[in-house]
Amino acid sequence: MIKIVTIIGARPQIIKAAALSRAINKRFSNQITEIIVHTGQHYDENMSQVFFDELGIPAPNYNLNVGSGSHGKQTATMISGIEEILMQEKPQAIILYGDTNSTLAGAIAASKIHIPVVHIEAGLRSFNKAMPEEVNRIMCDHVSTLLFSPTKTGFANLVKEGFKSETSKPYSANNPKIYHSGDVMFDNSLYFSEIAGTKTTIISKYNLDKNKFILATIHRNNNTDEPLRLNALFNALYKISEQNQLDVLLPLHPRTAKLLSFNLDAELYAKIKASKHFKIIEPVSFLEMIALEKNCKIVMTDSGGVQKEAFYFEKPCVILRPETEWVELVECGTAIITDADEQKIVEAFNVLTSKPNMLFPKLYGDGKAAEFICEEMLSNL
Ligand code: UD1
Ligand code: UDP
Repeated sequence: MIKIVTIIGARPQIIKAAALSRAINKRFSNQITEIIVHTGQHYDENMSQVFFDELGIPAPNYNLNVGSGSHGKQTATMISGIEEILMQEKPQAIILYGDTNSTLAGAIAASKIHIPVVHIEAGLRSFNKAMPEEVNRIMCDHVSTLLFSPTKTGFANLVKEGFKSETSKPYSANNPKIYHSGDVMFDNSLYFSEIAGTKTTIISKYNLDKNKFILATIHRNNNTDEPLRLNALFNALYKISEQNQLDVLLPLHPRTAKLLSFNLDAELYAKIKASKHFKIIEPVSFLEMIALEKNCKIVMTDSGGVQKEAFYFEKPCVILRPETEWVELVECGTAIITDADEQKIVEAFNVLTSKPNMLFPKLYGDGKAAEFICEEMLSNL
């Protein structure tokens, strides 16, 4: 029996963790004990609790209730709380997801007291260190013992950074093992896709016509905090919606919701509020999000997870960022990077909605990445 401590904190990590907890529950409950630590980075009901209720994730054993704050303060409080729990629980490993401040805090706390770090979603790179996430993921990868990359590109990035593609046991932070494992979010999307169709009513709730609305999300800090960029994004969405008489459904992250009245031009904000097509709503649950992704015409987003889910559900995607870590999406021609450039966004929408026969090959594994990760942890920790 091994004991692992899983760190979650931000919305996408809570969802990602569901795949591993499900695999443990299904196949490995006699071999793996999972202790879940919620840092409290996300805390609104619709950014946290909703996912536990809906996805069957066990309640956290600990909640650090760290809340929001500057990068330094938030991360430092998490490090201190995680360290204390690790000293008490003495696990065989800490499991970290993605690239948030909760990920970085776990990496620092565990590596300093020599608890092996397992990084799920390793190797992804935007090559833009102005992004807090890029700093977090690089630092986490470089203290990890087992690194599970969802993509071939992620694996190759690690090799370019000096990780050995072949190495032998015993593995440690000084002799790490890297894998191309597939994506635990593909596991989740497959698993919850069926249920989403029957258990949600969001399409009728907002009077959405199937395949005739735009699903948008915006939360990346450089988009929300820079008025010029935020205005360009909303101008583009407004223009596209008016020109094409299409609804835009925008489940809004609280970060963006708090900044709209400060950073959006008052006239544009008023037009958007008055528009019959523009529907700005509270964040939705994961099953609702899947239902929206499956039924929309196109996705327009700066989210990492949502651009990939668009691909899983065979929808084109406009990526509202200067670059992406999920480069395969762009290589397949189903996604276009536009940054926050109004003209490029409108053009990308026109190109993607008039493109016939788009192909969405299976690039993210076989839906069993979480089981593979459990097997490897059992053999190699
Ligand atoms: C964080 C991650 C980002 C990830 C995103 C997922 C970092 C550095 N960033 O960004 O990589 O894509 O989560 O959603 O870790 N807020 C609330 N209620 C909440 C949570 C946040 O109101 O439950 C508001 C607060 O005003 C807070 C702001 O959102 O200051 C930003 O939250 P924070 O967790 O710091 O960063 P995110 O932008 O959510
Ligand atoms: N998501 C959700 N409800 C929402 C918006 C997003 O359940 O209102 C899900 C989405 O389906 C994906 C994850 O949250 O699985 C992505 O999180 P987010 O966009 O916050 O972060 P990122 O992936 O960019 O780090």
